[in-house]
Amino acid sequence: MNIAILGGTGKEGPGLGARWALAGHSIILGSRDAERARTKAAELRERTRKLAIIGHTNAETAELGQVIVIALPALGLASTLPQVRESCRDKVVISTVVALSFGGPRLFTPPAAGSSAEEAQQLLPGAKVVAAFHHIAAHELAETDQAIDCDLLLCGDDAEAKQTVGELGASMGLRGIDVGPLSNAGPLEGITALLATINRRYQRKSAGLKITGL
Ligand SMILES: NC(=O)c1ccc[n+]([C@@H]2O[C@H](COP(=O)([O-])OP(=O)(O)OC[C@H]3O[C@@H](n4cnc5c(N)ncnc54)[C@H](OP(=O)(O)O)[C@@H]3O)[C@@H](O)[C@H]2O)c1
Repeated sequence: MNIAILGGTGKEGPGLGARWALAGHSIILGSRDAERARTKAAELRERTRKLAIIGHTNAETAELGQVIVIALPALGLASTLPQVRESCRDKVVISTVVALSFGGPRLFTPPAAGSSAEEAQQLLPGAKVVAAFHHIAAHELAETDQAIDCDLLLCGDDAEAKQTVGELGASMGLRGIDVGPLSNAGPLEGITALLATINRRYQRKSAGLKITGL
């Protein structure tokens, strides 16, 4: 599958791209700057020894992807998503976005739309937005020789889109758990603030979530 990653030059995007490239998918890393995306794609090809990784502007990236991943800071949604609205129509769009802000009075501030995923859905009418991968940390994704010890919680309003995202998670070894409609994305995103706090308090990097009783 061709997977397009908006904001693919950061930390989370290349981590996801590396895992999916190793699972046999083709990756397009997006950026506001095409040259930056090409440089990051070359780094990732070198690291993974997989050739099907290229870089483009965010707009071209969304055009090429069958599935689009949003790996942008929450502040970047309003400026980026209107440019890719038509390319995302009818496609599965995965929002990894969490409105975290380090160093301020609040770590997590829920967006006015209820969640970043719902904000993305408002900005991308006709796209099938699924919220997922918030709890899978970039550094864990980057350690591609190690399995990720965490469940993949995902929510959205389109059953087939959720199935696709579950399969993409399974291709990197994650157990997918459907946690309901997109209106549950707020609590899903908010849990990330708890994991980040646990990591800080216990001086760890890898606090994750596993659902028991299933
Ligand atoms: N890092 C993690 O462990 C982790 C885990 C789970 C979820 N997430 C979520 O995933 C998203 C990406 O995380 P990240 O750590 O990869 O973020 P990041 O490194 O801060 O940003 C990713 C990319 O977004 C682009 N960008 C930055 N500011 C922008 C703006 N104002 N408008 C448009 N594009 C902008 C930059 O690419 P260009 O400058 O090349 O355009 C940057 O390389 C965030 O919402 C985060 O909460 C992160």
